[in-house]
Amino acid sequence: MTPLLDIRDWRLAFDGFEGRAQVLDGINLTVMPGETIGIVGETGCGKSVLARSVARLVDMPPGRILGGSIHFDGQDVMAMNGAALARLRGHGIAMIFQDPMTYLNPVFSIGAQMVDVIRAHDRASGQRPRNSAAARKKAADLLGSMRLPEPAGMLDRYPHELSGGMRQRVLIAMALIGTPRLLIADEPTTALDVTIQAQVLRLIAELVAMHALTLMLISHDLGVIGALCRRVVVMYAGTIVEDGEATTVFANPRHPYTRGLLAAVPDLEKPQHRAQPIPGQIPNLLSPPSGCRFHPRCALAVEQCTRDKPVMRDVAGRSVACHLAEHA
Ligand SMILES: Nc1ncnc2c1ncn2[C@@H]1O[C@H](COP(=O)(O)OP(=O)(O)O)[C@@H](O)[C@H]1O
Ligand code: SF4
Ligand SMILES: [Mg+2]
Repeated sequence: MTPLLDIRDWRLAFDGFEGRAQVLDGINLTVMPGETIGIVGETGCGKSVLARSVARLVDMPPGRILGGSIHFDGQDVMAMNGAALARLRGHGIAMIFQDPMTYLNPVFSIGAQMVDVIRAHDRASGQRPRNSAAARKKAADLLGSMRLPEPAGMLDRYPHELSGGMRQRVLIAMALIGTPRLLIADEPTTALDVTIQAQVLRLIAELVAMHALTLMLISHDLGVIGALCRRVVVMYAGTIVEDGEATTVFANPRHPYTRGLLAAVPDLEKPQHRAQPIPGQIPNLLSPPSGCRFHPRCALAVEQCTRDKPVMRDVAGRSVACHLAEHA
């Protein structure tokens, strides 16, 4: 089977006044159709930049591709022409983000924005765009399937009249208009209240199952990933450090950083075990640590760790990038 997404040795930097930040350093990630994968790691580790790389939203200054390749359904994303790229962004990949307000236009009603997107998709797929009454009907149906109350009335409302959770549902509805194969959700519930968070996550889980979507869910919250994803990918400072079945990795993490992340989560059932934050700071990517980028914060680091970059290896039923993975 062709992987839906195949990222090979992907290296990306941002050039700025202070120099070149080496933001992604040799990312390898293969995602098969129907997989649900969660990408987790501290703020600034490159999760969003990786997601945006997949839709080729980073290959302009200050972004600079230093090497590697990204294939979507067998096609080289970096070699795509304008039409292929529009197809990729319209029908291949859908993205939803943390702050829905940024992606809704405040001066147009929800209905007007959805009608535009629906008709644009009709055109992109070579059909005559449906008339606005038919597009409004489709928009209302979509909002209904997002469990929004009174979907027809919702069409005439403006983004600022909706709650954060409602706006996120509208954006999810819009993301699904092009019947994408891969849904990338980048911290989709981080800005929402906890109860609304749970509802939106449940909705995403249902839509993924109903439309047989492949899901790439980005979060700094291990609980969110555990609830929705079968596979988890742990990132640290622009590298992938552990990748495997979520149950396997969470039950028995093999990378010292994954262990640190898990230990930093408060355990409500054992309040006497205080959550332990990972000591030290995330590194400055203008001059990232040599060898293993985690070495300045790793309690197990040996001399080799400061010298050689660890590669991903299969250890205990998952992949780990640590020189001591067998012993740790
Ligand atoms: N457009 C940009 N220009 C310069 N640096 C950027 C840009 N976007 C992201 N970065 C840098 O890339 C790194 C990774 O960012 P990001 O992917 O947003 O992290 P995460 O999503 O994991 O919190 C950060 O150091 C960030 O400052
Ligand atoms: S390679 Fe070395 S520094 Fe990096 S996580 Fe493993 S033991 Fe720690
Ligand atoms: Mg981010």
